[in-house]
Amino acid sequence: MAYETIEVTPLSPVIGAEISGVDISKPLGNQTFQEVHDALMAHQVIFFRDQEMSLDEHMAFGKLFGELHIHPAARETQGHKEIITIHADERSKVVAGMRWHSDVSCDAEPPMGSILHLHTIPASGGDTMFASMYAAHDALSDPVKDFIGGLSAWHESAHVHRDRLGHKGTLRDGDDSYPVSLHPVVRTHPVTGRKALFVNENFTTRIDGLKPRESEALLKMLYDHIATPEFHCRFAWREKSVAFWDNRCAQHRVVWDYFPAVRHGYRVTVAGDKPF
Ligand code: SIN
Repeated sequence: MAYETIEVTPLSPVIGAEISGVDISKPLGNQTFQEVHDALMAHQVIFFRDQEMSLDEHMAFGKLFGELHIHPAARETQGHKEIITIHADERSKVVAGMRWHSDVSCDAEPPMGSILHLHTIPASGGDTMFASMYAAHDALSDPVKDFIGGLSAWHESAHVHRDRLGHKGTLRDGDDSYPVSLHPVVRTHPVTGRKALFVNENFTTRIDGLKPRESEALLKMLYDHIATPEFHCRFAWREKSVAFWDNRCAQHRVVWDYFPAVRHGYRVTVAGDKPF
């Protein structure tokens, strides 16, 4: 793909590219917006370095790609429900995102994308790993593709947000209301038309219509498959880096190897549509 206003440097042939030549805190011209969008569609996750960006500018960048998503359980940040604080320090017992996942897949309309801006990073470690769900789907054998192509799976969140992460306070959907949704195991990306695996070990609890042992065995096989390094890239953060991933075709997991150091920043999440 030819880019005229930005430079795009792939991190791997499969997933991930670093973008340079753009200040995302400023309004983007039509051409630059289109090229950033094209790069995201082509690489599934894109990275920017050295971005000075206020919370308002961060939200404005997110809004270029759609309405902002409100998390069902996270606390608001500085009065903004649309911003999630990502923070770990010496008091942390757990950090969000330590299992492979697509953000908030428990929602009926899971977010299209997530934009994370880290302000404080550890001296070393704290990378985020990304996995291409196109590559994971495409590498399956045809009989398995045919079988899982007709299945749907349940995605739940109480065991993540209430039980594991211990979120307290007001929930988006009301008292003790944690979203549960049924989604296809393989979804078709609404822009690229490519097929992507859409089950993840954080939120997916069972495959609809299968016996419990069948569902467990199939999900384990798919999670092992998703963990294949050839489907991955790994992003080493620097202060003021930004990662923008497409939750419809990429999963991610954080590496918490830096305890007790501080890692801190903010995430804006762009709303998505019902997977098909
Ligand atoms: C997340 O949004 O899942 C957290 C990602 C990260 O901290 O790198």
